[in-house]
Amino acid sequence: MKVSPSIAAANLMKLEEEVKKLESSGADSIHFDVMDGHFVPLLTIGVPFIEQMRKITKMPIDVHIMVTNPDHVFQDYLDAGADVLSFHQEVSLHPHRICMKIKDAGKKAGIALNPSTHWNTIEYLLPILDQVTIMSVNPGFSRQSHIPIVHKKIHELSKFRKENNLNFEIMVDGGVNAENVMTLKQLGTDIVVAGGAVFNFENYSEAIQKIKKASLK
Ligand code: DX5
Ligand code: ZN
Repeated sequence: MKVSPSIAAANLMKLEEEVKKLESSGADSIHFDVMDGHFVPLLTIGVPFIEQMRKITKMPIDVHIMVTNPDHVFQDYLDAGADVLSFHQEVSLHPHRICMKIKDAGKKAGIALNPSTHWNTIEYLLPILDQVTIMSVNPGFSRQSHIPIVHKKIHELSKFRKENNLNFEIMVDGGVNAENVMTLKQLGTDIVVAGGAVFNFENYSEAIQKIKKASLK
């Protein structure tokens, strides 16, 4: 199981130190949550932070934009240095166009789905997607409880991927920990986002190894 720690859950007063700690922790990428105060209640860090983070690390940066206007702003996040860029289906006017532009830039295109959104709303896009993020919390905050209702969606999506020989990765975002990661793996998840399950602990490397090991049991 790949693990992508959510930097929004880190100590934001020590961002560079936190990124350096992640580099040697066994994390597969850094998950960067962008919140606009409209799609979700809070505001987090955005484009200037990604630009600066890009300068200090070679780790893949996985950007998840929780914004109401992805069609208008996705390019800024690509230019800032995102390696994977995921936006929400629920608010996108022309998701196919956004995905093609991300792929034309040589980056990975992802779509995120709220718990209430059916996976078949993006069925036509699955052949061109690199990643589908199944939100397992209502987006907006770290350290919320995982919603197992979305497990059926992960299972169906994974089954559809297999039956149609597709290659996108399934990411699960929200309330993932060492207790539920094995179930997520068995359902077909490839990558989990981890906020509290990494940053609540002193030793990030141990926390990440714990999640990875638990996915295999
Ligand atoms: C939820 C965010 C998540 C969140 C994950 O709105 O998209 O990435 O920070 O944090 P945990 O793992 O603590 O739920
Ligand atoms: Zn996220």
